Amino acid sequence: MPDFVSALAAATLQPGKGESVLLNGRRIAVFNVGGEFFALDDDCPHRGGPLGPGWLDAEQCKVACPLHGWEFDLRTGACLTVPARPVRSHPVRVADGWVEVAI
Ligand code: FES
Repeated sequence: MPDFVSALAAATLQPGKGESVLLNGRRIAVFNVGGEFFALDDDCPHRGGPLGPGWLDAEQCKVACPLHGWEFDLRTGACLTVPARPVRSHPVRVADGWVEVAI
């Protein structure tokens, strides 16, 4: 069973938005897609861009890196632009109004 760490209050991240947070010294990008939360390493494998402030496509459940546009599946971390360069995804749960991420 992974250890879950509180990332942010669920009510502070509106649907269709992402945010970068620091958890145990690691940059993690958390996203809200229609009330469902996802978490990826906030470190684009291209050149380290932050994915939290990327362009979220809720319909396709993907985010585009704000630096050069590489796209990632929020559910798996798969890179849709360069399949050999995925980003790590993390299990997420909501408990007592907090989004918690297993890192
Ligand atoms: S740093 Fe993310 S696409 Fe270049």
